[in-house]
Order: sequence, then structure tokens, then C-alpha cells
Amino acid sequence: MKRINIFLLVVFFLFNLRAKADEGMWMLPLLEELNYATMKKMGLELSPEQIYNINHSSLKDAIVIFGRGCTGEIISPDGLLLTNHHCGFDLIQSHSTTEHNYLNNGFWAMGKDEELPNPGLTVTFLVSVHEVTDSLLSGVSDDLSELDRIRLIETLSASMESKAVAGTHFKARVYPFFDRNRFFLFVYEEFTDVRFVGAPPSSIGNFGDETDNWMWPRHTGDFSLFRVYTGPDGKPAPYSKENIPLKPRHHLPVNLKGIEKGDFAMILGYPGRTNRYIPSWGVEELLEVTNPNRIKVRGIRQEILKQDMLADEKIDIMYATKYARSSNYWKYSIGQNRGIKRLGVIDTKREKEQAFDKWANALPERQLVYGNVLSDLQWAYTNRKQHVGNLQLLGEVFRSTEILVIAQQAEELAKTLADSKAGKEILDKKCEALKNVAAGFYAEFNLPTDIKVSKALFAAYYNMVEPAGRPAFYSNIDSKFKGNIEKFVDAMYSKSIFSSEEKLLAFLDKPVYKTLVNDPAFAVARSVGEKRREESAAIESTMERFELARRLFTRGLIEMGEGKVFYPDANSTMRLTYGTVSDYSPADAVYYNYYTTLTGVMEKEDNTNPEFIVPEKLKELYRNNNFGRYGANGYMPVCFTTNNDITGGNSGSPVLNGRGELIGLAFDGNWEAMSGDIVFENEIQKTISVDIRYVLFVIDKFAGAGHLVDEMTIIEQ
Ligand code: ARG
Repeated sequence: MKRINIFLLVVFFLFNLRAKADEGMWMLPLLEELNYATMKKMGLELSPEQIYNINHSSLKDAIVIFGRGCTGEIISPDGLLLTNHHCGFDLIQSHSTTEHNYLNNGFWAMGKDEELPNPGLTVTFLVSVHEVTDSLLSGVSDDLSELDRIRLIETLSASMESKAVAGTHFKARVYPFFDRNRFFLFVYEEFTDVRFVGAPPSSIGNFGDETDNWMWPRHTGDFSLFRVYTGPDGKPAPYSKENIPLKPRHHLPVNLKGIEKGDFAMILGYPGRTNRYIPSWGVEELLEVTNPNRIKVRGIRQEILKQDMLADEKIDIMYATKYARSSNYWKYSIGQNRGIKRLGVIDTKREKEQAFDKWANALPERQLVYGNVLSDLQWAYTNRKQHVGNLQLLGEVFRSTEILVIAQQAEELAKTLADSKAGKEILDKKCEALKNVAAGFYAEFNLPTDIKVSKALFAAYYNMVEPAGRPAFYSNIDSKFKGNIEKFVDAMYSKSIFSSEEKLLAFLDKPVYKTLVNDPAFAVARSVGEKRREESAAIESTMERFELARRLFTRGLIEMGEGKVFYPDANSTMRLTYGTVSDYSPADAVYYNYYTTLTGVMEKEDNTNPEFIVPEKLKELYRNNNFGRYGANGYMPVCFTTNNDITGGNSGSPVLNGRGELIGLAFDGNWEAMSGDIVFENEIQKTISVDIRYVLFVIDKFAGAGHLVDEMTIIEQ
């Protein structure tokens, strides 16, 4: 039985979906069933077992979760790891000072003894994946309310997870797929000694910075290198001098032959989130509420940060990661809204919904299940709109005013101080915990910058939200400060124990309940917290109908498209996408080639703009055509485009040829298809990658760290 089904699926897939072979973030255990035949036709030379196998080494053993939210890959038998520069960015920043500014100047460990430890950084390998839908749902009865169903599934998942890894050092997690219609259990192995090995200066690794971000043609060498260490027994261990480089089950060979248009390309990695099944009302929410909010608030903050960063190198280093994180999804939101409008995304969704409506009402028994799905979705989105908007604004505004972030962290301490039964031991523990948080927090905190941000954002929020929607502290501004926000903010900072590390530490030496709860920053943070809880509760009241309708909508779409092969939305689990190296036309009469070269770096050079400075050494190598074995017919390749389907979280993912050899490192998407997380754009959606030859050229020729290239397995044909 099963065989026949699989056969039919493959046949359907070949005939129905060939043109769409580039869309889809596929799950590894299902590749053989769903995609293998097509992939083989397109140029894959590996067997499904060589890509994913839980008993023998396979490609998946070289692909890791880097930190929280990026992908990395192992590229040597000694645990050398490659990821993006923008993925290593906060770590590079953490090792940087004005004396050793590795962000500006790059860093290269010339031997293993020079590699730098990174407390808190983890690298996680996938051990196995199993579908658990049937066993999980066998314990869930149909008459539960949707929210009870979700809660029960969470409880059952947790016990399944702990059973799966009992007696091992592995970690397990059950993830929902297709809007909670299917479930898979993932087992992971997490390593905690990961050292910084090398990174080019930002003038290569982040060349073009914000101006070029989310754009093609691109000329960024967006890579950095780390190394995974294990205990002497090969198992995960915290940092120790005795640890040894990881002996991986698999490492990716590097292919230097280069790419051509039409070449097969596949990417394995950890895409974070897509919303391909979102209904039209959800797209409207993005377009009208959440994106405009984010664009507005971040725009105001970024302008203030940038000014202070440009004026002082110390602040520049301090705020580098905060700025980059903020601006990345600020620009994303601008691009997404542009894409939603230009590409008619809402119309596409409405057409789908009309088809769904017709299908759902065609049979009485179908109508019984699916008849209310669309009206429920519309109802839920309409009723939550205002609350979703305010909740998001509260986050964007009051998490950007950093003093409130640290003040909010004292909530636990306040509870302990209020509790007359809590002993000295617990109190000391809470104080100690806050001291630890404070050390990290104030290392990246500049008081005058934060005061400016607070003044601007408190005022912006005031103007964006009706009085009833605002946290209660705003009425204080009116009553005690005659509506003068600047004065209120000045008073808050001058009186708060959270405005400097010294003040906070002094308080923690002799913590007094009254001082804490009367602290103006603490009080504002509490007031914001109350408003957040209120808005969350309002949204919660729409969730029952919303969650049920989303699950049934996605299930219905799949039922309706019988025979078609569906892939689940990204959810931070490992996926594979396949496609080809390809060019595109971004607009009428405009053509973009599929690769860029070092010549383009020289063309973009602008010494008056920090985003486009070119290092002297790079210019010298360029002038002398000194590309070594990494050049191609007299030029140096830099980046290229493919039509693979990736999203945030895929950053740092390997781009592989049909033999599973590394040809590039994925790092971005393109401006013309920024709504691609909602609807994949077949003609114009691209993955932007650094050519692996540029990566090796920078390591070897630019940095003189050829010993790292010597570790790799190089294939020249
Ligand atoms: N857009 C890229 C991504 O989300 C990040 C690029 C980082 N560069 C920057 N200038 N912020 O993966």
C-alpha cells in the first residue's frame, strides 16, 4: 500500500510541480518519498541515505545550529566551522576593544592556541528525526477545546521528549508542522566549547552594510570561522584547556571549480519562520499594523544610535550588534511591505481563499468541518488587530529604552524582598543573579545615548497610541510633569538606581524593598508590564477560534490540493532546498547577472562612506591579479544567486553541488522578493551567497591564514 502511494506522489510531483522545483523547504526524512526523483534529474549525484541517515554518517552530520538563530557547517576533520560574518558578529564584537578592534581590522588565530573561547555560545548537531503524529494524537480526544488541545499536546510532547533522551546527554524536542496538523520529534547533541578562529574586517565581511543589505548585486565576504571542541572523550564539555577539536562524523569537502548558470544547487540549514499559509487578513495585519510600527520606532532609534556611534569608536563597538539587529528587520519590513503591494500578495491570498470557500462548501460533510474557517479567521484578525498593534509597539518602544530592560530584570528580586519568609540565602542568590546580568548589560550601555532614545520613543509612543491604550505611567507625566516628557525622562534617569552599574551594585549590597518599588525606572517597567499583560489577555480571547481555524485552513488547503506535494512552513528545524544557479530580471528592461566579481568591490569603493571602504591589501591583490588558485579566467568571483528557498535562520547555510561539496555560503535574500516569506516568487526570488572561492581567497591570500585552508578537503574539479 505504502509503496503505491509513494509512487503516485512522485509521479504527481514530476508532472505537476516541475516548474516550481525551487520553492519549498523540505524535510530530510521525507526527501526520498517526495523530492528525490526531481533532484536527481536536476543534477543530484548523492543517494537519499548520503544526505540523511541516522545510522551512518551523512551530509546532515556536517550541518549545525550556530548559536541561536543561524546555521553553520563543519569543513574540516578538526571541527572547523564556517558561518556568516553577521552570525559571528556579536562574538567578534565581544572580543573587540578600541585597542584590538576585530570588527574593524579582522582577526585570525594563527594556531589553535590563539583561538578565543565564547562563553554561552552553542553549536548543535541533529541526531535524528521521527514523525510522532499518531502516537502523540492518540492521547488527544476530539472534543477538547482548541486551547486545551494545544496545552495537552504540549504536556504530552514534554514527556515524549524526556523519554526520548533519558539516560543520554542528548536533547529532544517535538515540533508542530503544518499549523499543528503533524508532529516530529527531533533529537540533538549540543556542544558548548566553541572558539573564534577568524573573521575578515567588516570592510569585507560586512561590505556595503545597510545600503546593500537585502540587495543584489552584492559584494560582501559575509563569513567567519569557529572551531568546535569536545572533552577528551569526544563528548560535549564546557570550555577547558584539556578539550580537543571535534572529530566530526562528516565534514564538507570544498569545491573550487566554480559555478555556471543552470548548475544544480542545494542548501541545508535551519530556516526560522515563514508564513506561506497565512490568510489575506494576516497579510493586512503585517502591511497596516506591525510593519509600519516597526519601521517607525526603529527608524527613530537607529538615527540616534548612528549619530553617537559615528562620533565615538567605543560607542561604535558597544552598539554594533544592537544596531545591526535593529536595522536588519527594519529594512526587511520596508521591503516586505513594498513587495506585498507590488506583487499583489493580498490578491493572491484572496484568490486562494475564494477557491477554498468554494471547495469547503461543495459537500455538506466538508461544510461541517471547514464551513466556518474563513469567517472565523476574519473575525479573529479583526478583533485582535488593535491589541496586536499595541502589544508590538510596547515591545518595540520599551525594550529599546534599555534602562527598562535591566529594571524589569529586578522583578524577581522585588518578589523576594516582599516575601517576609524568604531567607537571606535566597535573597543573596537573587542579588548575585542580578549582578551577573548587570555586568553584561552595562558593558554595552551608554547612558547619554539611552536618555536620548527614551525621550524620542516615549514621545513617539504618546503620539501613536490613544490615552486608554497607554501604560498607566503616562498619566503621571500629565499630572506631575505637566505633560513634559523630557522632564519626566530626565527625572527618571537621575533618580533611578538602574542608570549606572555603580548605583545598582551599591543598592544590591543593601537591598531595600521600598527603594526598589519606588524606583522610577522600575515603576515604569512595571507599568509597561501591566499593559502588556492586559493586551495579551485581549488577544488570548480571540485565540480559541483563531488557532482552530488556522489548523483547519492549512489542513483544508492540503486536502484541496490532493496529489500536490506540500512542504511545511519553516519552524527552525533542518530543511533542504534545491534549485539552480540563476540570473533574473528585477524590473522592466533590467537584467542582473548571476555572479559578481572583485571589480564590483572596486567600483563601489567610497572612502567618504564607512560602508564602502576597501582595505588596502585587497586593492593590492586586485591590482596584481593575485588570486592564486581561487580566481576564474582572470577575475575573482565574489557572490552569486540561486533560486533556492531560504529565510532568516538559514544565514550561514552551505550551498552544495550535486555531490554534496561546498560551493558557497548563503547569507541573504533579494529586495525585489522581500514578501517571499509569505508567497514564494518563482521568477525573481533569489538566495544570495558568497562564492566559496572568495572565502578561501580572503583566508589565504588576504589574511595569510593558509593553514586553515590546508585543514580542508579541497576538490579542484
Ligand atoms: N539580511 C541578512 C540576513 O537577514 C543579514 C545581513 C547582515 N548585514 C547587515 N548589514 N545588517 O540574513
